[in-house]
Amino acid sequence: MIILKSRREIDRMRIASSIVAEILEGLRLLVSPGVTTFDLERYASSEAKKRNAKCAFRGYHEYPSSLCCSPNNQVVHGLPNKSPLSSGDIISLDFGVVFDDFYGDAAITVPVGDISPAAKSLLAATEESLYAGIEMAVSGNRLGDISSAIQNYVENRGFSVVRDFVGHGIGRSLHEDPQIPNYGLSGKGVKLKPGMVLAIEPMINEGSHEVKVLNDNWTVVTCDGCLSAHYEHTVAITENGPEILTRI
Ligand code: MF3
Ligand code: CO
Repeated sequence: MIILKSRREIDRMRIASSIVAEILEGLRLLVSPGVTTFDLERYASSEAKKRNAKCAFRGYHEYPSSLCCSPNNQVVHGLPNKSPLSSGDIISLDFGVVFDDFYGDAAITVPVGDISPAAKSLLAATEESLYAGIEMAVSGNRLGDISSAIQNYVENRGFSVVRDFVGHGIGRSLHEDPQIPNYGLSGKGVKLKPGMVLAIEPMINEGSHEVKVLNDNWTVVTCDGCLSAHYEHTVAITENGPEILTRI
């Protein structure tokens, strides 16, 4: 069941989402060679605390951290650790909070120092595919219009869409209906309506779309060892088109 949000509820979600956006922006500036993902975790949780926001991921299905840090061939749900980032790495950072009963959720992929042209083009295609999807998040369109816009954007550039993980509705829960695959057919799926709030999150691989979960039961990696990137925004569908609640 898709839970529509009132204008007042979207106002509350805008606050939770802006906290996420600010903290992700702080993390982006912090990323550099020598920094550990554990440093990033500490920053995210202390900044959330300063704002009286609760970290959404810690404890969610027993996830042990506040931030997901997924370098290079890690797709999503990487665990913060004490190994330093190196120039040439890319690192996906996924963060969410609850504030005033509502969730906000967003992700970025950040270059560490100088990265290869191939990595740059993966990051650009993934971020741009998110905006191609958001552009379709318009009342009267269908869910498949978002999915197919993302899929077409990345496949036209030679990259592949992860199938095993999807975006989601968001509100008083982190994950609500509908599920939002990053592949699909335009014109299919539920009709989009004002008041829907969607976490749209393309996870895009440089090589094959296949992924697997490591023995820690969290870290998702590409099967072929190639790079993967992830961007996410929490987006409200309004009478006036999509509003990106996690925009900085
Ligand atoms: N952005 C991810 C999602 O929406 C984060 C969840 S990770 C978990 O699914 F650790 F909380 F599970
Ligand atoms: Co999400």
